[in-house]
Amino acid sequence: MNSARIREIEMTFDDIGSGAALILLHGYPFDRSMWRDQIDFLSAHGYRVIAPDLRGLGQTLSTGEITTMEDMAQDVAERLDDLKIERAVICGLSMGGYVAFEFAHLFPNKVRALVLAGTRAPADNEQEKQVRKQQAQRMLAEGMDFVADATLAKLLAPRTLAEKPEVVARVREMILRSDPKGAAAAQRGMAVRRNYSDDLPSLDVPALVIVGREDPIRPVADAEFMHRQIRNSRLKIIEDAAHMTNMEQSGVFNAALLTFVEGLVAPENDRFESR
Ligand code: MLT
Repeated sequence: MNSARIREIEMTFDDIGSGAALILLHGYPFDRSMWRDQIDFLSAHGYRVIAPDLRGLGQTLSTGEITTMEDMAQDVAERLDDLKIERAVICGLSMGGYVAFEFAHLFPNKVRALVLAGTRAPADNEQEKQVRKQQAQRMLAEGMDFVADATLAKLLAPRTLAEKPEVVARVREMILRSDPKGAAAAQRGMAVRRNYSDDLPSLDVPALVIVGREDPIRPVADAEFMHRQIRNSRLKIIEDAAHMTNMEQSGVFNAALLTFVEGLVAPENDRFESR
């Protein structure tokens, strides 16, 4: 575990392995521990893996009332600058995907490729914004228990719930240990995020779009839309998984990720140009 001062916060992150860099951006209301299997796997395969706790979540505390996707993307960019990483594969799941879109928009030259898992491009409609607002208020009043109770059955496929108690426990614990103030700030930030659909046709890096076949939160249709709109993209649908594809089917997720990154053609002696 590492930590560094960035833009008035102390960011906690893992930085493991050496080689071309991948940045793993977690979802909401989670933390970098959701990437444990990917960190172990990719670092063992010759990559440098950086997984931050995004502003207000995990161990990266923040007292702000709203954390925008732009805030999170800027934090990550600054961390990469400090680590002297010029370009990296940016991989985000759900909220992490929104941060990846914002990062690619703000810092296109830092992106070698994108991995977009369980996410979507359109902004929220008015009703969705209202739900986020209410949830943010409720979290501040009651804490995170109701979030875990209400969302586990959507985050995880029936098979995961029945057969993978360790994954169920990890997801529940991540939610419960989130700081309600940081989670509420992220909810408010997601409510005001841009519509990333217009960005998709102009993304000119390779992209891998991943979705769980049984994800009710960001269903297959959202992934198919991104795949159609991003010129140089491929789509991986993971069976027996819902929203937390990387935890529910980590072997399948890891294999898809490795195939994708190994397939990135880079100039000789400059794998990803990011060592
Ligand atoms: C996530 O998993 O990050 C959230 O479902 C994203 C969202 O609420 O839009």
